[in-house]
Order: sequence, then structure tokens, then C-alpha cells
Amino acid sequence: MSQSDLFGEASADVSVKAAQLRERLHHHAHAYYTLDAPEIPDAEYDRLFRELQALESAHPEILTADSPTQRVGGRVLEAFAVVHHAVPMLSIRTETDTEASGAEAFDARIRKELGLSAEEPAVDYVAELKFDGLAMSLRYENGLLVQAATRGDGESGEDVTANIRTIGQIPLRLPPDAPQVLEVRGEVYMRRDDFEALNERQRQRIAAGMKGEKTFVNPRNAAAGAVRQLDSGIAAERPLSFFAYGLGALSDSAEGLTTGPLPWHTHFDMLQQFKAWGFPVAHQTACVQGAAGLVAFHQNMAAARDALPFDIDGVVYKVNDLALQARLGFVTREPRWAVAHKYPAQEEMTTVQAIDVQVGRTGKLTPVAKLAPVFVGGVTVTNATLHNELEARRKDVRVGDTVIVRRAGDVIPEVVSVVLDRRPAHAAPFSMLTHCPVCGSLAEREEGEADHRCSGGLFCSAQRKQALWHFAHRRAMDIEGLGDKLVDQLVDAGMVNTLADLYHLKLDDVAKMDRMAEKSAVNLLQALAQSKQTTLGRFLFSLGIRHVGEATAKELARHFGQLDAIMAASEDALLQVADVGPVVAHSIHTFFAQPHNREVVQALRDAGLNWPEGDALAPIAMPLAGVTVVLTGTLQSMGRDEAKEQLEALGAKVAGSVSKKTHYVVAGAEAGSKLDKALALGVPVLDDAGLALLLSGEKP
Ligand code: IVH
Repeated sequence: MSQSDLFGEASADVSVKAAQLRERLHHHAHAYYTLDAPEIPDAEYDRLFRELQALESAHPEILTADSPTQRVGGRVLEAFAVVHHAVPMLSIRTETDTEASGAEAFDARIRKELGLSAEEPAVDYVAELKFDGLAMSLRYENGLLVQAATRGDGESGEDVTANIRTIGQIPLRLPPDAPQVLEVRGEVYMRRDDFEALNERQRQRIAAGMKGEKTFVNPRNAAAGAVRQLDSGIAAERPLSFFAYGLGALSDSAEGLTTGPLPWHTHFDMLQQFKAWGFPVAHQTACVQGAAGLVAFHQNMAAARDALPFDIDGVVYKVNDLALQARLGFVTREPRWAVAHKYPAQEEMTTVQAIDVQVGRTGKLTPVAKLAPVFVGGVTVTNATLHNELEARRKDVRVGDTVIVRRAGDVIPEVVSVVLDRRPAHAAPFSMLTHCPVCGSLAEREEGEADHRCSGGLFCSAQRKQALWHFAHRRAMDIEGLGDKLVDQLVDAGMVNTLADLYHLKLDDVAKMDRMAEKSAVNLLQALAQSKQTTLGRFLFSLGIRHVGEATAKELARHFGQLDAIMAASEDALLQVADVGPVVAHSIHTFFAQPHNREVVQALRDAGLNWPEGDALAPIAMPLAGVTVVLTGTLQSMGRDEAKEQLEALGAKVAGSVSKKTHYVVAGAEAGSKLDKALALGVPVLDDAGLALLLSGEKP
């Protein structure tokens, strides 16, 4: 094979590869710029773009005029009027190097261009944030906002004035000292909190069945969507913000092009003037000296990035002196005097290797996407929560999928979307497990709730610590000295697995624990022994059955009298208990239907836990059953309503008028005809003290 054949073949391969890359880039540029619905993260787009650039520069013969590398920025949407920029909107060169080298390389270039020797002083720079939104040019004539335009391809953009007027932070009118023509350039963006609120509203609209609504993948994308809304009423509902960072046209004559000298000597002074005219300028913007100043700014902002209320994708360095800027000038479409120094991307692409279900301390089951490790937002991410089954299905994340993962701020990493055209055939939709992956108990989701829960309560080792903390609580079994820390230690040491294990602890074992002395160990064992004698209400509450609080537990104990009756009760029977509705009844029934939970209850009984059992609705609990009382006059110890309530709680009937059948009349101050009638009929009359006696369960 001759050498030329070899080259021919290589070149054919390369041009096929380049054509494929162009095709993909065209597709993704359309999704990004025209539909505001990117399918892949920016970082991935940049990689494809650079790959194509590298191919084209190594093989100039394959370059085509329509290659995405030959065009800057986006395309102009025909829906909006076209605006020709009086001064082109340029882009800036990007340094993606991490740490110091990007800043140092820039400073070295500037010094070289300016012919500065090493002995000469450091160059003054302005360091700014690189806001992750979209560039906007705001044109003011005679102090009035007349036009807002997107960057478009840099030469012409879209007229989005109506939408931009809805942004409260952008002045519609400038003070009288503003020049006749002024174009302020800056970034329109959406704050993170506004973005979250917008997506929440969008989710509600989708849930309400509204057609054509969607959620947004990130704040930048949401901002772009709002700016390019054809209906400015909708744009107004999407809260946008603005930061000024640059100048377009400026003139004191109606033509609007800069002629004479600028009214400022430095970029920083210009920003201060913008601020005075009412434009927001980020307060992080700083004047710094030389490479060291840039490096420090880069590091400080990297540390501050997560806590900012908006997204940034890097910092921007600019030569401060405007005369020096003019001397440095431009290369093609980029100024030599500015550079963007990027941070690691906050969105990356990776694949879902599995979807695990994790069990939380309270039994909540959470689906978690296990990801091929990916470096995003400055950390390596291998897990992303899918929250619950509904959320996992809404995003339709499947094992094998390629997904976009986002980690912005200190927010936990999340899957923003699935790259659908990379879904493998036969990828199955996710569905929640029917049983707890830890203990095998039934997994249940209550009506109206998003989360599934393990019903294995006491048995499930994932819920062990939570169950023990609750059990020992003062208002439950009241085991003094058994705090959260000790529970953690006992479980971690493998000494306590179930509630009943507590009652088999040995003095030596307990004394070995951290911060435990012989005496406190003795005290704990004593407290455990004491706790064995309890009440049915406390015992029920201490089991930690979902929805069974202290009051419900007491009521259940009063109603059924015996534990076995409760454990055997049907949901219907449980519904007869005051305050027990269908959700609570179902929860109690499911709890006792789990063999594991029954075993734990039995083990506790075997360990010696006991309580007085009564009959169903035991009369002892209703000492005033069958007693009729009439209240009259003003009582000293309590109001009449409260007295009525307390009497009724003990089974008494509180009547409105006195008759022969009345057992007692309780008379306070200024009692009238009812007291007279009681005296006439010979009905016993009680004062406050008599009432107290009655309420203590004794009959006076
Ligand atoms: S200056 C002539 N400053 O980054 C220089 N741009 O390609 C013009 N951006 O899309 C840009 N923050 O919208 C500048 N502080 C900042 C910026 C910034 C964000 C965006 C700009 C443009 C891209 C630069």
C-alpha cells in the first residue's frame, strides 16, 4: 500500500468522524438555542466542540463552511424582530485550567503584549464573577430604556424589550446626568431560590393537567426560556435578575457611537457609575493587582460559589485601565484584555448502573441511582437520590440510562434529566419494591403520601436505633440513663438488636461503654428493671407504631383494656376507638400483622414487662358512669365548660336542669333557681371542694 493511500484512508475516516460530530453539534445547538431545552450538559457540548475543532485544525482540508466551529453563539429566532448591534457583542477567551495557571497565563500574556519587563509593577485588573445566564444589551436613549436585545450571533440579536421590561431590577429611566445614548451590557439570570419556586409551580401545573407546561433543567435554561417567551405576560411570572458588567454604544449625540474620550478612565469606575444610575453590579467585583490578585480572587470565589444565591460558571478577569484595553484591542471576536477562567462544571453526564432502595431511620424507602463515578460541581458523585417512586417515575430514570447529573451549591446531587436517545433497548421503568430490602417486611405507601415505608418497625435493623430511642423516651418506657448516645454505642457494639435485648444486658457489658462508670451502669440496669412495671398505654406508645401518639395509645388501652385484644383487632374494630380514623387503624393493623413485630412484643413480655390489664372499657376507668350532675353559678376552681368536660371524661352525664333523677348539683357563687330547686328536691349540693372529690373518682 502506498503512502498516499494510507493518508487517503485516514482522511476519509476523519471526515466521516467530523461529519458525525457536526451533525450532533447541530442537533444539540438547536435544542439549546432554539428550543431552550438542552439534552446534554454544556460540558459535554464543549467536549464535542473541541474534538471537532481539533480534527479540523489537524486536517484543514475537511473544514466546511457550515461547521458549528465557524459560527459564534446562537441563532436568531424568527419570532422576534432582529436587532443589529451598534457595537458587536463579543465573547471572551476561556481558560479552563484549574487553580493558578489560568490566571498566571493571562497575566503573562497581558504583560508581554504591553511590553512590560519583570521589574515593572503589577497590572491592575478587575475581577468579576462569570454569571451563568444570558448576555443582554440594554439601550437607553435620552434616559429611557428603548431596546433590550440578546447577543444572538454577536452581530445581531433578538428584540426582547417587552420581556426585559418585566425585570424589576432593570431601570426603565435613568437619572438626568446619563448620556444621550447608552448601551449597558450584562447578564440576565435567575436566582436559585426563584428557580426552585418556579419549578415547583410548574410541577403543580403539570399535576393539574395543564397542557404544554414543563419544568426547567437549570436556572440558566429557565432564564433563557423566560427571556425568549413570546407572551410577555408569562415572562413576567418568571422572576429574573440582572447584573451589569460592560458597555456597548455610548454617545452624547443621537447617532449613538462613541466619538470623544470615555467619561471614565477605568472599567471599575464605569461600573460604579452604572451602579449610581441604578444598575445592579455584583458586590464581589474587585480591583486586584497582578497574577497573585487574580489567583486569590479565583480561589475565594471558588470557596464562596456554593453559598451564592445564583449560579456562576467561573470568574472573569479584565484589564482595568480603559486606555490599556484600547491598546490591547481584539483578536478576531475576542478582546485581548479579558479572559474567563472557568470552574469545574456543575452538570455532567454519566450512566445509571443500578437503582437501589435505601431504608431510613424512620422506615422511609428511598430509591437512589447508583452512578458511574462522575466529577461534577467539584466532587466525585456516585449516588443521586430519586426521592420516591413518583419522582423516579416522573423523571423516568431507568437502569442503563445516560443521565445529566447536577450538583450546584451545597445541594445534594440530583439527576436533572435522562438523555433519551441514549437509552438502551429493553430498559425497564423503575418500580418500588414490595418488601423492605433490609428486613423483608411489607413496604407500604399511604394514600395521599409520596413515600413508601417499611412496616417492620421494631424488627427492621435500619430502624433499630430510632425504635430504641423512642422506646427509652421519658414519655414512653422512661428508662433513665438510656440516652441517644448510649443507644448508638450499644447497637454499634452489637449488644442490642431488638428492644427485648435491653432487658438482658449485663452489668459488665454496660460498664464497658464510653462514659459509663460502674455506678451509672448499675443505675441503668435498675431503671430497666423498674420500667418493666408499666401501663398498657405507655407500652403501646413505646412501640413506635406510626401515627400512634401518646393520646391515641392511652385511648386504645382504655378502649380494649388488653394487649391481645388490640393485636387481634380488625381495622373496623379499631375504628370504634375515639380519635382513630382509617389511616391510624390501618397503620396499627399492619404493624401487628407483621410476624416480626409480634415476636418482639412476645420477647418483651417474656423479659418480664407487665401492666395491669382490664376489661374492654373497664368500669374502673369510668368511675362516674351513670351519675348525673348539674352545674350552676360561678365556680372558683375552674370554668363551667372545663368542669363539664372533666366530669364527662369520667363517665358522668352533665344535665341542664335539676330533677329528681339528678345525683348532684355543683353550685358556685351567685347560683340561682337551680340551687333552689336542688334544695327543694333534696338533691345533694356540692361546692368546689365537693367537685374536686367527685373528679378524684370518689362519690362525696
Ligand atoms: S464580559 C467583551 N463579564 O460570558 C467582553 N461576560 O463570552 C464581553 N458573562 O455570554 C463579556 N459574566 O454573557 C463578561 N462578568 C462578565 C460575565 C460575562 C458572564 C458571559 C457573557 C457571555 C460570556 C462571554
